[in-house]
Amino acid sequence: MLPSDAEDMINPTSLPHLWSEKFLPPSRFVWRHGLRPDTNTEMVFYKKSVRRGTEKVVVQKRYQGERMSGGAEKVVCVTGASGYIASWLVKLLLQRGYTVNASVRDPNDPKKTEHLLMLDGAKERLHLFKADLLEEGSFDSLVDGCEGVFHTATPVYLSANNPQAELIEPAVKGTLNVLRSCAKVSSVKRVVITSSMAAVVYNGKPLTPDVLVDETWFSDPAFCEESKLWYMLSKTLAEKAAWEFSKENGIDMVAMHPGWVSGPLLQPIINTSLEPFLKLAKGAESIPFMSPRWVDVRDVANAHILAFENPSASGRYCLVGRVLQFFEFVKLMHELFPDINIPEKCGDDHPFASSYMVSRERAESLGLNFTPVEVTLKDTFESLRASNFFNI
Ligand SMILES: NC(=O)c1ccc[n+]([C@@H]2O[C@H](COP(=O)([O-])OP(=O)(O)OC[C@H]3O[C@@H](n4cnc5c(N)ncnc54)[C@H](OP(=O)(O)O)[C@@H]3O)[C@@H](O)[C@H]2O)c1
Repeated sequence: MLPSDAEDMINPTSLPHLWSEKFLPPSRFVWRHGLRPDTNTEMVFYKKSVRRGTEKVVVQKRYQGERMSGGAEKVVCVTGASGYIASWLVKLLLQRGYTVNASVRDPNDPKKTEHLLMLDGAKERLHLFKADLLEEGSFDSLVDGCEGVFHTATPVYLSANNPQAELIEPAVKGTLNVLRSCAKVSSVKRVVITSSMAAVVYNGKPLTPDVLVDETWFSDPAFCEESKLWYMLSKTLAEKAAWEFSKENGIDMVAMHPGWVSGPLLQPIINTSLEPFLKLAKGAESIPFMSPRWVDVRDVANAHILAFENPSASGRYCLVGRVLQFFEFVKLMHELFPDINIPEKCGDDHPFASSYMVSRERAESLGLNFTPVEVTLKDTFESLRASNFFNI
């Protein structure tokens, strides 16, 4: 618990030894933190709107002696915090007692921040930072003082007019940008990056029922490029660059590879992997593109935390609860949602048409229990309905 006077309005000039140019936040949501040597108090600075149009500097004091041991009260950070997976990650981290530095691109957009600020524990332990993947040094203050770095931010679109600028550069340069910030500080013990099964399965090998995909599989950049799989290429190149940089710079990195993520959403904006569910709920005439590699968003967030907390975690982790075939999906949908009209056809080139297996062994070795797909599907549609994305 923070002391009752954790949040005081202060006059910045009353802390001349700390309040220098170095500590002035460039924008009102960017925080600085440091140890006040005379009182051994961790000081966190930010600016807060007091009345419309006015701002005051607020300092939050955290007394070192009151920190809890273990995972609780450790400082970690999450990039792209307003996103679908990251919002769950922030929620679970706060629930476990972590202090979370969260980066967003636009801290003034309530659609990107309000759902985070409303989370339990956010008032005391969530700090928002403004950062952009393409801005050099943008993540320096975010990672400074953090033990764990969760890098989730990347553009997630399955088509692009200019794939290089829209997908590949932010993914690759952005990942290196974040890792460069990590390499500058000694506090970072482990970096967990959110890669994807997109960086695992796209290598041209046939995906037949007898095939077991596991962490030894790597997508082939040339295959992705020839097949114009631009998002898959961005994730493959970003992961490759991340491993190279981490090895060269002695960073302890772990990569998580979720399949197609669904489950309830916390953010008010629909993200790419939930779009097909909304299309189905609104009466799509054919099955929209989605991969048959299912995983629940809560499992993905949980796996990231387990990979940070488990000292022996290393390398890559496929996160796929189940591979569904088309007929299984249709049957489940009919059972769970008789009101929704599910298209009965699925083209030969649709990802649902292939059937193979993905190893759960490494993910389960972290202590992850995958949520049954029935529960995920039910919670996905219920969440979309509750958030008024559709009414049936
Ligand atoms: N959803 C899936 O099925 C799935 C599966 C496997 C892997 N993943 C991976 O999981 C991660 C999160 O995906 P998601 O589904 O949660 O997507 P999402 O909801 O679209 O979140 C992506 C986040 O990245 C941020 N971002 C994009 N471009 C940025 C930039 N130039 N600078 C800073 N931030 C930027 C976005 O910020 P804004 O809010 O400002 O746009 C957003 O917060 C991604 O790395 C993705 O590749 C997702």
